[in-house]
Amino acid sequence: DKGGHKHFMAKEIAEQPTVIGDAIQHYLSSNGNSVVLPDPGLDFTKIERLTMVACGTAYYACVTAKYWFEQLAGIPVEVDVASEFRYREPPVTKGTVAVFVSQSGETADTLAALRFCEGKAEQIVSVVNVPESSIARESDLVLPIFAGTEIGVASTKAFTCQLTVLLMMALKAASERGVMSKDEIQGKLSALRSMPGILNAALGLQDPLRAVSRKLAEARDILFLGRGVMYPLAMEAALKLKEISYIHAEAYASGELKHGPIALIDEHVPVIVLAPRDRLFDKTVSNMQEVLARSGQVLLITDQEGAVESGEDVWETIVLPEVDPILSPILYAIPAQLLAYYTAVAKGTDVDQPRNLAKSVTVE
Ligand code: F6R
Repeated sequence: DKGGHKHFMAKEIAEQPTVIGDAIQHYLSSNGNSVVLPDPGLDFTKIERLTMVACGTAYYACVTAKYWFEQLAGIPVEVDVASEFRYREPPVTKGTVAVFVSQSGETADTLAALRFCEGKAEQIVSVVNVPESSIARESDLVLPIFAGTEIGVASTKAFTCQLTVLLMMALKAASERGVMSKDEIQGKLSALRSMPGILNAALGLQDPLRAVSRKLAEARDILFLGRGVMYPLAMEAALKLKEISYIHAEAYASGELKHGPIALIDEHVPVIVLAPRDRLFDKTVSNMQEVLARSGQVLLITDQEGAVESGEDVWETIVLPEVDPILSPILYAIPAQLLAYYTAVAKGTDVDQPRNLAKSVTVE
C-alpha cells in the first residue's frame, strides 16, 4: 500500500518524521534526558576505537557517524566498505568495538565482515532494520532503527533512522566519557526531539525541488559538494541520484575540488552544494565561487543565513530550516532524496525497482 503516493519511495520519504520520532523515543530515557541502549549495553569508557563496516547507503551512514563519534565523544573510528574489509583482513584488537550497519541485516559482505570480527573484537554491535536478520542474530548487541518495512530499492527512511540511532549512540558515548556535560547532552537531545517537526517543514519544499529536478533530468553528469559532516551526505545524495535516475553523479569533499575534479566543470554540469551556515560555510562558499567562475550551474542547499551570505550568482537556492550543526545530515537528507526522486520521475525511470538493483544483496 503506497498510502496515496505514486511510489513507495515517495511514501517512505514522507514517513521520515514519524519513524525518526519512533527511533528517538526508543532510545530516550523516560525523563528524556539521556540515551538508553538495550542489554547488554556498551561500556564507552573502555572502548579504544570503533570499526564500522557496511555497504552502500549504510556505509555513508557510518562515514557520517565517524564525524560524530570523533568530534562529540573523542573515539577514533575506522570505516570500511564490507567488501574491502573482509578480504583485507585488518588487525582487529581487543578494545575495538565492531559496528555493522545494515537495513536488511542480510547483506553478504557485511555478514562476512562481521564473522571475521567474531572472537577478535571486544564486542559486535549491529544497527539493523530487521531485528530477526542474520546480522542481528550474530551480534552481541542489536540496535534496531525502527524505520518500518522499506520497500523502495533506494534506501531513504532507513538511512535517516540509521543516522538517528548512530547519533544517539555518539551522544551516549560523549556523556559516558565525560566529553560533554549533562547540560550539553540535554541540549542536543532536545534539539533531536524537535527533528520530526523540522523534517516536516523540509518535506514542504517539494515544489521548488521538483522544479529544479526537471532541469537536473537533462544533465549527463552532476556533482555534489560537501564539507565535514556534509561530505558523506554528498556521497549519499550522489548514490541516490545515480541509482534511480541513471545520471552519472559524483560527490567530492569541497576542499578536494581543486585537486582535480574542477577540470570537469563547465556550463553543462550542475553542481549541488550542501552547505548549512556552519563553521565551515565560508570555506565551502569559496569552493562554490571557484565553480561559478568556470560557469558551473550551482544549486545551493543551505539555510536562511547561508542564502543571504552566499551572494546572488547561483543558479538556484533551496532554503532549509536552521538546525544544530550535528543534525544537518539528517535534515539535508530530505532534499537530497527528493531531488533524486523528482529527477527520476522527470526521466520516467522505474523509481521503486531501478534496473540492475536488488533490495537485499545476499550474494557477494
Ligand atoms: C542504496 C541502497 C544500497 C544498500 C546496500 C546495503 O539506496 O539501497 O546501497 O544501502 O546494498 O544494504 P543493507 O543496508 O541492507 O545492508
